[in-house]
Amino acid sequence: MAANYDNSAWFYDRLSRMIYGQAIINSQVYLLKYIPAGSDILIVGGGTGWILEEIANIHSSGLKITYVEISAKMMVLSRKRKTAGNQVIYINEAVENLKDQAHYDVVITPFLFDNFTEQTLQKVFAHIHSLLKPKGVWLNTDFRPTGKWWQKILLKSMILFFRMICQIEVSRLPDVEKYFEQYGYRIIDQKSFFGEFILSTAYSKTYEVS
Ligand SMILES: C[S@@+](CC[C@H](N)C(=O)[O-])C[C@H]1O[C@@H](n2cnc3c(N)ncnc32)[C@H](O)[C@@H]1O
Repeated sequence: MAANYDNSAWFYDRLSRMIYGQAIINSQVYLLKYIPAGSDILIVGGGTGWILEEIANIHSSGLKITYVEISAKMMVLSRKRKTAGNQVIYINEAVENLKDQAHYDVVITPFLFDNFTEQTLQKVFAHIHSLLKPKGVWLNTDFRPTGKWWQKILLKSMILFFRMICQIEVSRLPDVEKYFEQYGYRIIDQKSFFGEFILSTAYSKTYEVS
């Protein structure tokens, strides 16, 4: 069964601030400097949509943003965000069902892949890859356990909680970095947050893999 974040939409941001403080926000905002003016952007799994306002603080106009979010309730909240002069197309759909060309300059996947089993990740990663232009930029932020005891406990509790509330499929984090390597992505910048538990990476698409 696919994850459904509808049940968590009303408390998601408050819970995430309570546990991680500003780290969830800071880790994503850190990468926004890699969005070129006037670019065509795909955001996948933006949750309540606060990232749209952070983007608008940096680029008050000129961006074309396609915002894909599978949860209807998260989408309702996202539509209320102030997006300044940027054009936003909201698509309430699983990204793997998005039929589109490889025309995006930037794709953003914030805490998306921690939802997925290896099998789903493989499929979704390949699809998002196919939507990004050659030499495009992929901004990915996610949890990355480093073996510290408190991270193991926190991760186990988070997964258990979201399995119960949102029916997420995973029981452990998938290895996303492996896919970026396999698909030939080059790291432009990387920074960790929250005691290295969160990793933000800006990648550049270097070549096509069929
Ligand atoms: C862990 S939450 C992260 C939310 C937000 N990015 C944040 O950092 O606060 C993952 C989000 O991805 C969405 N999602 C999960 N699978 C998806 C898919 N296949 N296509 C589009 N959105 C998806 C969920 O509905 C949820 O809102």
